[in-house]
Amino acid sequence: MKSQYSSILLKLLVLQCLSLLCVSQDFDFFYFVQQWPASYCDTQKSCCYPTTGKPAPDFGIHGLWPNYKDGSYPSNCDPDSPFNQSEISDLTSTMQKNWPSLACPSSNSIAFWTHEWEKHGTCSESVLDQHGYFEAALNLKNKANLLQALQTAGIQPDGKVYSLESIKGAIKEAIGYTPWIECNVDDSGNRQLYQIYLCVDTSGSDIIECPVFPNGKCSSEIEFPSF
Ligand SMILES: *[C@@H]1O[C@H](CO)[C@@H](O)[C@H](O)[C@H]1NC(C)=O
Repeated sequence: MKSQYSSILLKLLVLQCLSLLCVSQDFDFFYFVQQWPASYCDTQKSCCYPTTGKPAPDFGIHGLWPNYKDGSYPSNCDPDSPFNQSEISDLTSTMQKNWPSLACPSSNSIAFWTHEWEKHGTCSESVLDQHGYFEAALNLKNKANLLQALQTAGIQPDGKVYSLESIKGAIKEAIGYTPWIECNVDDSGNRQLYQIYLCVDTSGSDIIECPVFPNGKCSSEIEFPSF
């Protein structure tokens, strides 16, 4: 009786260790990055709309990036796991809409998704397979409606200038977490709202406070260009 009991205990212990191995992470959190299309397009470099047409005036997904707490990040983690379009065929039309490529030449965005999967997605394969990875990003975009958050606070993409603090505050108010804002410069030299970073736990589903912010800074007043 006693030995039977301890053998069950042992099995439980082994199971627990296995499950720990299964959820062991080789990264600490994700950055979920969305970009404002007008700010991609109005720089000196310009842009090309995808073959599906001009994207809606909304933030688009740039990526879901595994990161370390020290600020560094892993990349290109699994050359044996190439992007496979047929694994995400059910997500493609949603992705065309929410994750459009603005790179030139004009494309169907597959090259963009391939790059994101191979550089970043392969580094979270311990948690998310390819389908799960893209689905997680799409779900996060639904959870974090940045344009709505900004508009609720009276911050519109109208080519006017807004304070960085008001932009961060509007997102914190609506989504509950402090974002990091990346700026770039339009072809007239104005600093503008380019990308918004939120942090996500290693499951890829819950937004969290950022353990560390990227480097770089905007000015205190930035333009929100219309698209
Ligand atoms: C791509 O994914 C499909 C569906 O899961 C699978 O049948 C096919 O073998 C994969 N192709 C490659 C090259 O791995």
